[in-house]
Amino acid sequence: MTTQSNNKLYITTPIYYVNAKPHIGHAYTTIVCDIYARLNKMLGYDVKFVTGTDEHGKKVEQSAVNSGKTPQEFTDEISQLFRDLLVTINANNDDFIRTTEERHKKSVAFFWRKLQEAGYIYLGEYSGWYDMRNEAYFNDDELIDGKSPLGGEVTMMREPCYFFKLSAFQDKLLAYYEEHRDFIYPDSRRNEVISFVKSGLKDLAISRTTFSWGIPVPGDEKHVIYVWLDALVNYITVNGYPDNQQQNDGYWNNAIHFVGKEIVRFHAVYWPAFLMAAGIPLPKQIVSHGWWISNGEKMSKSLGNVQDPNKYCKLFGSDSFRYYVLREMSFGEDGNFSLPSFINRYNSFLANSYGNMCQRVLSFIYNKCDGQVKKVSLDGEYQDFLNNIDKEIQDGYDLAQKYQFNRYLEKVEKAASIANQFVDSQKPWAIKDDAELLNKILYTMVAAIIKITKAISPVTPIAAEKLLSFIDASGDVVKVSQPEVLFNKIDETQDFDVYGD
Ligand code: MSP
Repeated sequence: MTTQSNNKLYITTPIYYVNAKPHIGHAYTTIVCDIYARLNKMLGYDVKFVTGTDEHGKKVEQSAVNSGKTPQEFTDEISQLFRDLLVTINANNDDFIRTTEERHKKSVAFFWRKLQEAGYIYLGEYSGWYDMRNEAYFNDDELIDGKSPLGGEVTMMREPCYFFKLSAFQDKLLAYYEEHRDFIYPDSRRNEVISFVKSGLKDLAISRTTFSWGIPVPGDEKHVIYVWLDALVNYITVNGYPDNQQQNDGYWNNAIHFVGKEIVRFHAVYWPAFLMAAGIPLPKQIVSHGWWISNGEKMSKSLGNVQDPNKYCKLFGSDSFRYYVLREMSFGEDGNFSLPSFINRYNSFLANSYGNMCQRVLSFIYNKCDGQVKKVSLDGEYQDFLNNIDKEIQDGYDLAQKYQFNRYLEKVEKAASIANQFVDSQKPWAIKDDAELLNKILYTMVAAIIKITKAISPVTPIAAEKLLSFIDASGDVVKVSQPEVLFNKIDETQDFDVYGD
């Protein structure tokens, strides 16, 4: 994260298409945002975190027809699945926006008029290769092996349509990227965007007449507004547009849009150009992550290689699913999702390293020390040990603020391994006749466990709350109640069904 001009932070997921059921890719983007939001809340920021569904467009209209439903019935149903997923993965969002809501339709129509009043919209005719799966037009020279550069099948389409004068923004965008070097993260994506913009921006078709499931163009209702223009505006609708017209509430200029790598162009080129045209300041940053790969291919419904986040959460709990996706993916790059690696990471850290350490220390205090340790002042090796834990955790937070989420967890894991080494070397269970020493070691360990638990709590909030409920450190004496195992070991020889449709 770059420097803050206030302590507000506005975090968004892309709004998800409702033509398909939610899968691990969707769950991932939301989990990353949720963890980033929880972490920053814990660190004192005033955070607003929003998500939602993208419900218009030809693709949705067609999926509804195919399933024998009206678009509204169809979108109500699938949008609900995305809401349910939020509960399943334990996301703590502040709002959920649907593009079919009145507040959004009003916002998009207002935004359109602003673009029009500023002279950036004109009527023309469009012909081009249309990729229905990705709702985007391409030119001849952009096709790869007869398909769109996004991999979708294309058809030639011709229609009267309104255009946005994107070409007028080429230099302004390049100047903006130059002045705001953090605007697009990571650098690899920034470089791609810059070379795309440098290669020349053509005006963008922003209305359609070939279907009707969309927001009508104000004043020309034969046209519906291009679904990407409609969808991008969600980010300001949900932040109070058009009432909050200038978006100068402190959240917007600290807005971070988390997106998958395939939609960076829409967020880092079209969206800033629309905002510039409408006279609205730009968000702080576009942060892009890679794809989850299953058997070497992008996981998606259309490819039929989908693992089901609901099944993972049901079998192993949302905390461990959240931990796995954050730990396994090198943020920004692609990652391979597999059950064996899930089990391996779960067992080695959550069950054995962290979980087992909490269990053995707290149950020792509960069983052998009447569930009590006295608070004592610490120095020497005890204080050094806790300082080491603090250092790892602080390094972890710094990495998380730079979106190095897997490395943040590596630091928390390092802290747990330092704590395990400490307790192994101090051997409290072997101390028979030095109550003061025993108390000091256990008190130090309880302090370490609390620190590590807080550090991982944005990722594993349920386990963290449970663990902290076993410890009452409010008085002179720390009281420990009977602990329960946080993460039961998974038997890797068992068969688990984690695939969805
Ligand atoms: N509706 C648009 C976004 C509009 S935002 C103004 C859209 N929706 S989507 O449902 O297709 O995808 C939303 C997010 O899910 C993207 O961030 C995308 O990268 C992510 N994922 C979808 N499949 C994915 C993987 N296999 N792996 C990781 N994330 C991917 O695009």
